[in-house]
Amino acid sequence: MSAPSDPSGSYYKHHVFFCLNERKGEACCADHGAQKAFDRCKKQVKAAGLAGPGGVRVNKAGCLDRCAAGPVAVVYPEAVWYTYVDADDIDEIVESHLKNGQVVERLLTPPHLGR
Ligand code: FES
Repeated sequence: MSAPSDPSGSYYKHHVFFCLNERKGEACCADHGAQKAFDRCKKQVKAAGLAGPGGVRVNKAGCLDRCAAGPVAVVYPEAVWYTYVDADDIDEIVESHLKNGQVVERLLTPPHLGR
């Protein structure tokens, strides 16, 4: 992938963070398939040829403090939060948002849900 051309200097076009936090005895994203979803997202981004500078980077994160909405992932720089359920959801985020720039409205995290 070519070097970033975004005049804002953003190194990645989309930088995605998946909460993989595990918390014993309390609700956490790890209890809701977060690792599997993270792995799926990385795989699909790579397969679509989107990975790398100027493209998409998918990273692990600790608790993003929105556990009540978990499992969650957030896409920057647009700060779009998603609550996903399964691999189909991840595939849709990759195809629609990360590839084509269309936010997946049906998966948006309800704005009032925090910790
Ligand atoms: S455990 Fe995932 S947001 Fe807190």
